[in-house]
Amino acid sequence: MIMKRKDKITVFKTVETLYDAAAKLCLAIAEKSILARGRFVICLSGGDTPKGLYSLLATHPYHDLFPWKDTYVFWGDERCVPLTDNQNNAYMAQKLLLEKIDLPSTNIFPIPVNLPPAEAALEYEKTMKLFFGTDTPSFDLLLLGIGNDGHTASLFPGTEVLNEKRRWVKEVYVTEQQMYRITLTAHLINKAHHVLFLVSGASKAEVLQTILTAPFQPEKYPAQLIQPEHGDIYWYVDLEAAAKILNLSNRLRKYHF
Ligand code: 6PG
Repeated sequence: MIMKRKDKITVFKTVETLYDAAAKLCLAIAEKSILARGRFVICLSGGDTPKGLYSLLATHPYHDLFPWKDTYVFWGDERCVPLTDNQNNAYMAQKLLLEKIDLPSTNIFPIPVNLPPAEAALEYEKTMKLFFGTDTPSFDLLLLGIGNDGHTASLFPGTEVLNEKRRWVKEVYVTEQQMYRITLTAHLINKAHHVLFLVSGASKAEVLQTILTAPFQPEKYPAQLIQPEHGDIYWYVDLEAAAKILNLSNRLRKYHF
């Protein structure tokens, strides 16, 4: 499996050094995207792992260095809870980053979870189609995490959305959590110019090894669906989460100590 993937895996001694490298990568991709296309379109992920990155981007030097005015923010998935709920991914990013930087509110596109799930998905897809116009809907940078069950975004094992080849955004009922979520489809995620997985903590070691080295079984490990058609895929992993992939050849994995 690993031989078919074009994953660029970097292992960091601590999660702090992982965040620092991720912030630098975000800035580099932002500058390159603005030079090439006049804007930087980022798709944020939710959950706990990216919180340290968002907080770092809100502080010096990124607070002043980053080209926020040419930056446009979308989300890769959202929980169908109120926009001011602590579980809401946009609310989390708002509190940790977006309200602390000079980013025009018109550049921020939260998933409209005030609508019923199916309508919210259709509305978000319409928003993206208006934004990208006739261009291929390629995010310049799309952040992702992985769950212990192998999900990414809200692409959960055994759900129909895993097989979606036409839609860009779909609603999904997550039985284990007894809640609806809205997610970008793998079909859209794989059009990104750059995908960056952030993975931290010992609890992710087993599933990370499976995703990267086991045979292709996306129904069980949806994160395996993420293989950008033309873009790069980076895995920024701390040492605890990398515990079971340290034996990978150096061609596939490098250390950043
Ligand atoms: C979400 C995320 C989800 C997350 C993983 C990892 O909305 O929860 O988009 O896909 O990235 O569940 O979450 P942690 O970073 O909290 O482990």
